[in-house]
Amino acid sequence: MNAPLIKRPFDVEAIRAEFPILSRQVHSRPLAYLDSAASAQKPEAVIEAMAAAMRGSFANVHRGLHTLANETTGAFEAARAAVAGLLGAPSPEQIVFTKGGTQAINIVANGIEIASGDEIVLSVMEHHSNIVPWHFLRERKGAVLRWLDIDDDGGIDLEALDALIGPRTKMVAITHMSNVLGAKTPAAEIVRIAHAKGVPVLLDGCQAAVHGRVDVGALDVDFYAFTGHKLYGPTGIGALYGKAERLAALRPFEGGGEMIDIVEQGRVTYNAPPHRFEAGTPPILEAIGLKAAIDWLNTQDRAAIEAHEAALRDAAMAALGELNWVRLHGRAVDKGAIVSFSIDGAHPHDVAQILDRQGVAIRAGHHCAQPLMQRLGVTATARASFALYNRLDEIDTLVEALHKARKLLS
Ligand code: ALA
Repeated sequence: MNAPLIKRPFDVEAIRAEFPILSRQVHSRPLAYLDSAASAQKPEAVIEAMAAAMRGSFANVHRGLHTLANETTGAFEAARAAVAGLLGAPSPEQIVFTKGGTQAINIVANGIEIASGDEIVLSVMEHHSNIVPWHFLRERKGAVLRWLDIDDDGGIDLEALDALIGPRTKMVAITHMSNVLGAKTPAAEIVRIAHAKGVPVLLDGCQAAVHGRVDVGALDVDFYAFTGHKLYGPTGIGALYGKAERLAALRPFEGGGEMIDIVEQGRVTYNAPPHRFEAGTPPILEAIGLKAAIDWLNTQDRAAIEAHEAALRDAAMAALGELNWVRLHGRAVDKGAIVSFSIDGAHPHDVAQILDRQGVAIRAGHHCAQPLMQRLGVTATARASFALYNRLDEIDTLVEALHKARKLLS
């Protein structure tokens, strides 16, 4: 799907006006939504596209011969093309719809051939969705997980990565951007190092695809996991990109309708990718909503959005960095708009609850990244994460609320 050539000039107030939820109040305070890394809010274009499909044209896909089925199949496949365009995939056939990033990674982990003693290389800053599917292979098949350490800011030592990849390595599975530290990983170098040893790479792009432009072709990556709800789309929809030959070599993950070719009493054969991995009725309305999100984003100036998010990140890092009772986690230069921190003597859950009373929504906890928490020597952090609709003055609101939290908790 080609992006329109004329982009709208970046205007945060105009953007906010397109997100109905942002005008609501929480505890009688204007909402400052700083939790977009967990899930982003949705523009009217997405809400309306899903409602319009339900009102005007909906049926199951790939099965019917009637008008509504054909229209909906067209809309569903157009969504696949939109995801391919977003990720720079050479063909929509290389995009498998999933219910999210987690399922995308599970499809790969379940689909590859693993023998006892085979190895998977992971970094310690992975999100659980890029850890637990590989733990299943450890528990069930005797795979060995080899962990790549990071520095305190989420930096990766490429020589250490090189040393971890051996003759038994079957996959390097690594985040493209940490959901806790915001650190971006040097994806192209990681792929180059792994490929030099004939090892495929899976990138978890659930955060990176929101905060920057991705080109899976240029990265030469084998698999890329993506989720829709962080990219202003609905929940329940994500995608797995795979190189054609890699997808073709994966065993199917789930069995059911649509993923088959022939089913007889004594045998079954399978459909070609991507349908081989889409058993049962897929997330049709969610795909339509995701396409609306991508189309909406394509009307925006992505470079201007990236500059806006960088300004939010820098302002938040500077403001929190001035508070000598706040410890920042992750000061990488190449980082997305995610700021994790701890307050001396206060549990992040208590901080988040006090902030909520002031209308400020942040996430607190282990962020589904327990090995990273262990690496950082903490049990939890607080995390403010920003999106294209956040304003700089929301950082002042955050700082003010943190002062209050500190007073109440000390
Ligand atoms: N991955 C999401 C987060 O980081 C849920 O909050």
